[in-house]
Amino acid sequence: MAVISPSVLSADYSKIFETISSLEGKTESIHIDVMDDKFVPNYTLDRFNPEFVEKLKGRNIIKNVHLMVEDHLKWSKEFCEAGSDEVSFHFETGRTKEGIELIKSYDVKAGLALKLATQPQQLEEFFPRLDFIVVMSIEPGFAGQSFKPEAVQRIKWLHENYAKPYGGKIWVDGGVKMGIAKECAQAGADVLVSANAIFKGPREGFLDNLKDLQQDAAVE
Ligand code: DX5
Ligand code: ZN
Repeated sequence: MAVISPSVLSADYSKIFETISSLEGKTESIHIDVMDDKFVPNYTLDRFNPEFVEKLKGRNIIKNVHLMVEDHLKWSKEFCEAGSDEVSFHFETGRTKEGIELIKSYDVKAGLALKLATQPQQLEEFFPRLDFIVVMSIEPGFAGQSFKPEAVQRIKWLHENYAKPYGGKIWVDGGVKMGIAKECAQAGADVLVSANAIFKGPREGFLDNLKDLQQDAAVE
């Protein structure tokens, strides 16, 4: 059984706050993709910045921030201070222990994301301190790419070696759509991020797409 976390990266930004209002009560969390045009070749800090998170204060929705930035210490601090509930950064950007402890010092849940070139075994020493791990199933940077099937083995391995012994959550990010949501849930994922399959999805209303994915992911 997995839940869906809509990534607002593909939502219509001109009505983003209305969109988030209509998601409240229908999903536990939203996923906010932060890109600096250095770690990934895309930039979203013009829209998805600490001020954006600050404007969401008091909303009945968990704000999960995915930092795809080189300077994760700077941005973790700012996003935590702005009121994020959960913050992840990339293992590949280094200073891992320091980054995790910084996020946790704000009483914010700390996560590590890993690219396809990184093996989940490389994260093992950090398992006891991590609240969640974000398994990337695409190369980070853009929405709308195809799910890479090798992510499924990683989910299974992390389910046995991280989620079960340490109680942390497994997130999957990239290319999640109908059918794939089910496969990831069966492999042991807890939360599935989805941008295009919700906001540019097969049905016109994003809430209808969300509902379909939620049903797809509701398997044991
Ligand atoms: C990409 C982001 C993802 C992205 C997913 O780097 O981390 O969260 O929004 O988009 P879809 O679901 O369209 O693959
Ligand atoms: Zn993401």
